[in-house]
Amino acid sequence: AFDVSKLLSTTGLVTLDQGFGSTAACTSAITYIDGDAGILRYRGYPIDQLAEKSTFLETSYLLIYGELPTQEQLSAFTNKVSRHTLLHEDLKRFFDGFPRDAHPMPVLSSAVSALSTFYQDALDPFDHDAVELSTVRLLAKVPTIAAYAYKKSIGQPFLYPDNSLGLVENFMRMTFGFPAEPYEIQPEVARALEVLLILHADHEQNCSTSTVRLVGSSQANLFASISAGINALFGPLHGGANQAVLEMLQKIQKEEDGNVDAYVDRVKNKEDKGARLMGFGHRVYKNYDPRAKIVKQQADGILKTLGVTDPLLDIAMALEEKALADDYFIERKLYPNVDFYTGVIYRAMGFPTKMFTVLFALGRLPGWIAHWREMIEDPGTKIGRPRQLYTGSAERAYVGMGER
Ligand code: ACO
Repeated sequence: AFDVSKLLSTTGLVTLDQGFGSTAACTSAITYIDGDAGILRYRGYPIDQLAEKSTFLETSYLLIYGELPTQEQLSAFTNKVSRHTLLHEDLKRFFDGFPRDAHPMPVLSSAVSALSTFYQDALDPFDHDAVELSTVRLLAKVPTIAAYAYKKSIGQPFLYPDNSLGLVENFMRMTFGFPAEPYEIQPEVARALEVLLILHADHEQNCSTSTVRLVGSSQANLFASISAGINALFGPLHGGANQAVLEMLQKIQKEEDGNVDAYVDRVKNKEDKGARLMGFGHRVYKNYDPRAKIVKQQADGILKTLGVTDPLLDIAMALEEKALADDYFIERKLYPNVDFYTGVIYRAMGFPTKMFTVLFALGRLPGWIAHWREMIEDPGTKIGRPRQLYTGSAERAYVGMGER
């Protein structure tokens, strides 16, 4: 048992809050969540309105600069981003060093970290122009890096960006196209991906964003901080959940013949150690995740547009219905989160499962940047340095090798 008197350390009262369930590490004006009511707003604007009316670059501008841009501001911003999409030819050689079957997430985080070696001209966190330049470079280059990580994994040549295209179209062309061949993209498909990126663009102090802020609080540069955030996102309890959901649905299809009842029973009876219903539950939402509602509405439509019928969508819907009627999930307020239906859509668009979390990273990028900048500009920011409660040995004398 823990000795409560130890809460009083030599430097004052220390609270123990594992997982930061009720400890705020900062103030923030970027995103508002009401987890009980299922509300999400970026800079005050409801997520459903942004998903319906905005674009990914406009939402990025809103998150980073605090206001919706005028036409002139948006055009200038879009123009800047489209002029920075190329990767340095030397950076392209990095992709050759990874094994062919490498997961694209660590490839992405490594390449983003490496950006700070190519852009040493703009690393000072307190130089406003340098931060502006790094912001644009990241928004422009991360889609290119993501597409190249995929191309490398399937042994196909890289495509240079086509800056006459929008950000989403350019990314899809670099991912699925071939050099010197026209690439046709259905506008409905591009819009569906754009909406998913908007839905992922920020979510206040989640694990990866907190990581970006914590690393940045040491005054590490923007590339280094975002690279750390990408690694935090990789875990299956966070961004990696979208890949894990699809693998779970495939497992139910294969091993249970699509029967969700047995799977849900095994999860709730905690039969498989640590097995969870992936894509369900959230630290903050104790109601239906508003993003999941929008994704679910989209899933059916986009599959129809693409002419795809996917039994995994039926399994997902049956799984949701079963779980929402089950006391285990009702008592714990476990609802589908944003990741529950995204995988089915990404799969229909042709993305392999390993790319799902990379797509999450593309979407979350403006949120990470906005938080890093808010943290750097806040005069109240201090280096993040959590306390601990020591539970190890009391002082003891060193024991020589022969006496152990
Ligand atoms: N399936 C089954 N049981 C669950 C699930 C789930 N998905 N999520 C939580 N529970 C149960 C826990 O076992 C625990 O039950 P107990 O009290 O009997 O031990 C109870 O609900 C509370 O769970 P915690 O782990 O304390 O909740 P926490 O807030 O720490 O976790 C998390 C939130 C990590 C998202 C969790 O719900 C989970 O692991 N979900 C599955 C992974 C997932 O989808 N992650 C994506 C999150 S959203 C995002 O990052 C985009």
